[in-house]
Amino acid sequence: MKKIVVNLKQRSYPIIIGFKTFSRIGSFLNSIKIGKDAVVITNNFLKKRIGFSLAKNLLKSGYTVKFEVVPDTERSKSAAEVFRLINSIGKIDIKKRIFIIALGGGVIGDLSGFVAAIYKRGVNYIQVPTTFLAQIDSAIGGKTAIDLSVGKNLVGAFYQPKLVFSDISLLKTLDKRQVRSGLAEAIKYGVIKDKALFNFIEKNYKSILRLERKPLEFIVYRSSLIKSKVVALDEKESKGIRTILNYGHTVGHALETIGGYREYSHGEAIAIGMIAAARIARELDLLDAASCQRIERLIAKVGLPVGIKKINKTRLMTTLNRDKKFIKGMNRFVLPVSIGNVVVRQNIPLSVIKRAIDSIINEDTTYGMK
Ligand SMILES: NC(=O)c1ccc[n+]([C@@H]2O[C@H](COP(=O)([O-])OP(=O)(O)OC[C@H]3O[C@@H](n4cnc5c(N)ncnc54)[C@H](O)[C@@H]3O)[C@@H](O)[C@H]2O)c1
Ligand SMILES: [Zn+2]
Repeated sequence: MKKIVVNLKQRSYPIIIGFKTFSRIGSFLNSIKIGKDAVVITNNFLKKRIGFSLAKNLLKSGYTVKFEVVPDTERSKSAAEVFRLINSIGKIDIKKRIFIIALGGGVIGDLSGFVAAIYKRGVNYIQVPTTFLAQIDSAIGGKTAIDLSVGKNLVGAFYQPKLVFSDISLLKTLDKRQVRSGLAEAIKYGVIKDKALFNFIEKNYKSILRLERKPLEFIVYRSSLIKSKVVALDEKESKGIRTILNYGHTVGHALETIGGYREYSHGEAIAIGMIAAARIARELDLLDAASCQRIERLIAKVGLPVGIKKINKTRLMTTLNRDKKFIKGMNRFVLPVSIGNVVVRQNIPLSVIKRAIDSIINEDTTYGMK
């Protein structure tokens, strides 16, 4: 079992990474004194698959447990779902010892964290991430959010959990599409900060896709470490440091929004976004052709999409303009300069962005086949 601390002074918390550690969660909670009445936010599948044994363990450790089940879709990240949950939690919050457990992937994590942030101006919560993507990325760092129809993650709060509890053994039921989605974020970490991680994924992607324990443990640990260090340096993304985690997300979020959050998973959208950003970097002569190709090749090799079939380009540009990463009408992109290093650039000429977008339209979209 490994432990990483996200160092945020009085808001510091541990990330526990282990294998089959799930059944010991009660004793971890006892050590952080978090409350006594657990509200587990999850979906139906995860409630049956993991929830009941989680509840058993919590009951044994002296907690009460109440489930709140949300639909299994990005559309759960909505104002309607937030208020439904808050009303329901309010009704059972009698002894005022409530805390929230986000049991699920990034959707449940973002939604539950936001509910925890605004209910009574903040109650304790922990993240129990069950997808690869959530374990390496979304469960860490306290970015909580819901979507609006005009854009993704437009309503939210920075609100840190008290514990992130990542049990790699929970990943064994993920399908390949979800593993690939997580791999997109792992490739992102490689490009922005960790050449060795990038090399590792190049070498081991087949065993990662087979969900072998060792490479998964390595990637979850390494990625969690990078994310926790970046978050510790710039918790609220006010110093321009945390911004690098958005590599691929500018175009990626716009694609998710335009696709109604159904067409692409988060990881698939940012895979295309990473290619667009790499090509922008290439055109601005920030990135050499060989490195640009390596990024594109790895994304294709793991079976992520490298392009889009058709798109309403005007809508894409309008959606891009609404992105939080565009400040005062000025665009802002995270651009790779080598594998392991990125820069943040503002005011990229629109013609360059448009050319990058054109270049990803009608690329080979037969992803997921290899
Ligand atoms: N807060 C952040 O910093 C941050 C970072 C990255 C992504 N995100 C957000 O995360 C979301 C994407 O997260 P995701 O990729 O985890 O998607 P998700 O939460 O939709 O989960 C994907 C699917 O996997 C299923 N699932 C979950 N655990 C499973 C398991 N153990 N076995 C089998 N199936 C399982 C879910 O039910 C769902 O159908 C997006 O909304 C994105 O915006 C947030
Ligand atoms: Zn992401």
